[in-house]
Order: sequence, then structure tokens, then C-alpha cells
Amino acid sequence: MTIRKAVIPAAGLGGLLYPITKVQPKEMLPLGRKPAVQLVVEELIGAGLTEVCIVTSRGRRAIEDYFSFASDDGGFGADRDTFATALVEKRVHVSFVEQPEPRGMGEALLRAREFVDDEPFVVALGDAVITGTQAPGGLVQRMEHTMEATGCDAVVAVRTVDRAQVSQYGVVTPIGAPAGKAHFMVADIVEKPPIEEAPSTIAVAGRYILQPLIFDYLEETPPGFGGELQLTDALRRMVHDRESIWAEFMRPGERRFDLGNFLQYSRAFIHFSLNDPEVGLSVKEYLQQLVMG
Ligand code: G1P
Repeated sequence: MTIRKAVIPAAGLGGLLYPITKVQPKEMLPLGRKPAVQLVVEELIGAGLTEVCIVTSRGRRAIEDYFSFASDDGGFGADRDTFATALVEKRVHVSFVEQPEPRGMGEALLRAREFVDDEPFVVALGDAVITGTQAPGGLVQRMEHTMEATGCDAVVAVRTVDRAQVSQYGVVTPIGAPAGKAHFMVADIVEKPPIEEAPSTIAVAGRYILQPLIFDYLEETPPGFGGELQLTDALRRMVHDRESIWAEFMRPGERRFDLGNFLQYSRAFIHFSLNDPEVGLSVKEYLQQLVMG
């Protein structure tokens, strides 16, 4: 099995980041030198994917405009831009579909049904950037192997979070004790449970591999958390029916950055600036000066 396709939902309104997300999606916010969505696409290219569909919200063209430079070089000159070059050389095709109304990530995925057709596909959330996951053996590739080895319906990437954070994430119930394992079977999955109801502290990390069967479940799933159609709810129905979902742990060294709110965004930006090969050291000195007074 070789997975070729990925869908990046990037149609959220980014309300917690207003006003910087008023005219541009949060996926276009810079992390160091690159917009977040570019880092996500680079991760997918590294995992060997060649067909990417980005779901954008109606009227917000920034992501599409940004990617159009890859085909016409946007005046930058493809030789000066390694990302544009990688897209061309690896024959990666990026397409777009619109989500007319902000009705949730599950509904955004339904917009990509035609693109996905009848193949298993990756879902990579455009506002969740993962570092330290280079191929071979990167997170998405390990998930692909797990799907191949088990023949399951879905693999979700997970990591353990502090109990205080569980209500921000999808949370899984493992079958058996998952400690020390690379992956495990999922008994149940619930979206953003209150802390006292959370079945574990193992949280869904924003990467999924799904069989196209998920679309039938999404069609039948009513709106859930926040009045939006949640992928987690469709996965829940699927696991109850078919008991065929696996979870893949992120490894130590693989780090995840959320862009949900300003504190998360600030942390992510600082991380990428500090790790910049050209200015990282100077940024570090500057921060030290600021902090030391
Ligand atoms: C989404 C998913 C949630 C997952 C999270 C990871 O939530 O619905 O299950 O844990 O992404 O980033 P969101 O961050 O869009 O609210």
C-alpha cells in the first residue's frame, strides 16, 4: 500500500487569534521564515505523498495565492526557492476546495471526498505543525505501516498530554496497557471531554490516515462539540461498529506546535526563530538579554 493523497483542513476562522486572522487564515501565520501550512506540506512531501488537497474557507484566497508561486515561480525564481523546487521535482500537486460555511473539520473533509475518491488518505491539520519527524520512519510513514500491517479503518497519531489539557483534544481509550508500545488498538475516542470524564490522557495529535469509508460515517454524524461536525465523532461511530482503529504514538523528539491561540502561536514562532540556521543564535542572545533585563 502506498498512500499518495493528503487533505489539509485549513478552513477554520481562527477566532482566538483575531485580529491577525481577520483577513488571512491562521495556517498562513509565519513560523520563523515560513507560513505554517508550508511546514505541513513539507512534512507530507517528506513522507512521500504527492497529491495534496487543501480545504480553505470561502473568500480566503491567501493559501491558494501562496501556492500558485510554485507553478509560475511568482517572480522569485524557482532556483531561489527550495520549496517551489521540491514541489516541482517531486511532482507534488496541490489543489484546493472551499468550505462555504465554517461547519467543522468533519464537514471540511467531506468537501474533499471527490479528491480522495477510493484511496486511503492522510489528514494533516494545517494548524498543527510537527517537527523532528523526518522520513524514513517519520510519524506519517509509521502510521502507514500500521495501517498496512493491521488492515484497519483508521490510524490516529497520539501523544500523552497533561490531564489539565485533555479538554482541548480528542482523547482515546486504549485496549490494554499502551505504555511502552509504538501503537495500540483503540476502544473508544471522544472529542474534547471535560477533565473529569476523560478516559485517558492520550490525545489525538492532528495526523490521521483514513480509509474512504470515513465519508459514509461523516455523512451520518450529527454536529457535535461547538455545534460543528467533528471527525472524532465519526471515528467514534466507526470504532463502535467495526472495532478497527489504531493509534500511533509520537516519538520523543517529535514535537507538536498548535496555533490555536496567541500563547501557542508565540511559543511556536519563538521555537522556529531560535532554530533558524542563520539568525537563531542572535535571536537566542536577544531573548537572553530581554529576560535577564
Ligand atoms: C482538532 C480535533 C481534535 C484533535 C486536535 C489536534 O481539534 O478535533 O480531536 O485532538 O485537532 O490538534 P481543534 O484543534 O481543531 O479544535
